[in-house]
Amino acid sequence: MQIVVHSRPIFTKNLYLCVINMHIMVTIDSIRKPISQDMECFDTFVGENISAEGDLMHEMLTYALTSRGKGVRPMLTLLVASMMSGGEEPISVEKAAAERHCSKRTYLAAMLVEMIHTASLIHDDVLDSADERRGRPSVNAKWQSDMAIILGDYILARTMSIGMASAQYDLVSYVGLAMATLCEGEVLQSQHARNFDTTREDYYHIINQKTASLLGVSAAIGALSVGASREDVDRMRKFGEAIGMAFQIQDDILDYNRQNNTGKPANNDLREHKITLPLIEVMERKSEEERAEIIELLKVCDKDEAAVDKLQSIVDENGGRELAAQTMQAYLARAMHLLAKYPDSPYRMSLMNLCTYIAERDK
Ligand code: FPP
Ligand code: MG
Repeated sequence: MQIVVHSRPIFTKNLYLCVINMHIMVTIDSIRKPISQDMECFDTFVGENISAEGDLMHEMLTYALTSRGKGVRPMLTLLVASMMSGGEEPISVEKAAAERHCSKRTYLAAMLVEMIHTASLIHDDVLDSADERRGRPSVNAKWQSDMAIILGDYILARTMSIGMASAQYDLVSYVGLAMATLCEGEVLQSQHARNFDTTREDYYHIINQKTASLLGVSAAIGALSVGASREDVDRMRKFGEAIGMAFQIQDDILDYNRQNNTGKPANNDLREHKITLPLIEVMERKSEEERAEIIELLKVCDKDEAAVDKLQSIVDENGGRELAAQTMQAYLARAMHLLAKYPDSPYRMSLMNLCTYIAERDK
């Protein structure tokens, strides 16, 4: 996929420079390029380690692992590990792409976060009764919810047992809390969806727990896997969390874009009674009476498509998506700032480009 970026801050030797009217293509492939060899080795590592014996479990596992999406989390782990372990000598993207830089310890770190993410989405589709994921039937749609729950549990169990068997206890314990945080976020989100009372602060809390926390861990564990200092691990955690907040806000903006390419039907959040930033921005600018009308519409969105259409129009007419995008940009600026300390390298450049990609993605 090709994305055209207009007048965006781009990264140079001296951090970033605003180039007016210049078109730069940021693609996932270009971000991945400096670690392309490592990403291939990582995929092989996952294939060799996450397997099942029984026929049905094998079939379900293969189905779940062959549609893993963009691989943002392992990419983040491998890029941060490469950036932290690279020397001071500048190297070209081509030279970086031709080499392998990561050790099995970093692949294990990336696998831990990617498998937690995979399992959490399988469970999430059960909770949301979602029939589609990435343009294909969800695991629950194909094999029913009970099987989907077991598959998610199985992926987690296999992953943790591999982590323990490899004796990389620091990595395993680093991701342990991330799983608990995801569950906290999911419960908090369900609570608010039942009560129709999500404020801006609640929203930030939810998306921090359900998305930003794992992206923070994905970046930090890359640093941890190569023996970076405590300070660098913490800084990378903040970096990952900032892009995670931006990533989820963009996800929530895309849910209000009926032309998106996400492979998920638009307006699912409304049908699931989720109040996300584009709607919060609008509600904050409305009178109490108008807010009450919006809530009444939201209450019937699970069974009334006219109410969904009406809320989509209210968000469009009041610039909800554009307002939410401003907050997303602020998180990305914070993320870019956290990279300023590190020397220029193809890996740092890719991490900067990942920030641009998050803002511009339509899938
Ligand atoms: C997607 O949100 C869901 C998550 C990012 C987290 C889901 C977490 C759980 C179900 C807790 C279980 C955790 C583990 C470790 C198994 P969304 O519904 O807003 O996004 P979507 O549109 O992609 O479904
Ligand atoms: Mg969902």
